[in-house]
Amino acid sequence: MFELRCTVRNCREPLQQRESGLFCAAGHHFDRAKEGYWSLLQPQDRRSKNPGDADAAVLARHRWLERGYAAGLTETLRPWIADSASADPETVPRTIDLGCGEGSFGPALFLDEADGYCGVDLSKRAIKLAARGWPAGTWVLANADRTLPAADASVDRVISLFGRRPAAEIYRVLSETGICIVAVPGEEDLIELREQVQQAGHRRSRWEMVVDELSAAGLEFVEHKHWQQSVDLDTDAIADALAMTYRGVRHSQQTRLESLAAMTVTLAADLILLRRGS
Ligand SMILES: C[S@@+](CC[C@H](N)C(=O)[O-])C[C@H]1O[C@@H](n2cnc3c(N)ncnc32)[C@H](O)[C@@H]1O
Ligand SMILES: [Zn+2]
Repeated sequence: MFELRCTVRNCREPLQQRESGLFCAAGHHFDRAKEGYWSLLQPQDRRSKNPGDADAAVLARHRWLERGYAAGLTETLRPWIADSASADPETVPRTIDLGCGEGSFGPALFLDEADGYCGVDLSKRAIKLAARGWPAGTWVLANADRTLPAADASVDRVISLFGRRPAAEIYRVLSETGICIVAVPGEEDLIELREQVQQAGHRRSRWEMVVDELSAAGLEFVEHKHWQQSVDLDTDAIADALAMTYRGVRHSQQTRLESLAAMTVTLAADLILLRRGS
């Protein structure tokens, strides 16, 4: 399993797995939840202003991914994963996925690397679904905006797919040859739907800003790819797309949406590859 580090304030000792849980040399102990994930949440993390996605958004995302709408995105990411695979078949690269959500991307991208994979999310509902879906991975309930549960320079890949991007911590945990893969929604993502709901679709390109944020922490930009595709959504899929995108749709908007039986919608994401650099 992915080697985790203690998250008790200022401790940072490696965690060793024993029958009844994870232990650090300072005597801190974490139980495994019955669903198979580890809760490394500290009391101060629970008071976070942003407790992760609401259950409804997590479940909508789960149904959305089950319908296969991210298959093209997964395939676009795959070459970067393959290029960063280990040359030595005995060594499994270590990957940490920040804001892994309901966990579909883990097995889709790292099926042969379960021992090296760790998904982190702050939503209990999401991490439970993830652990149930792929028990071979390591799943951690933690706040990725605080200290990450990994030792310095110990991770080969940091992944953030529409997830968290704690720049200084990403830099700290990456090994010298480590890479970071980030996905953010593209300008045109769900634009037709956003036009309906907001009356005016707001286009904005975020990826260059994300590169700036991560470069400021020491990461080096390597490559950008744009993924875009058109899909036909039925009423249920439209409802899920909205639930996973907006915190809540107002009643007047809900009525407008109910009149949309089906719709062709653009899906788009900007994918960024960075490396730790020296
Ligand atoms: C848009 S979802 C993306 C999930 C997944 N990567 C995917 O693409 O399906 C963002 C995720 O980040 C999680 N999240 C939000 N704040 C977080 C934090 N501080 N630490 C860890 N995860 C967080 C949410 O709970 C949610 O699952
Ligand atoms: Zn400890």
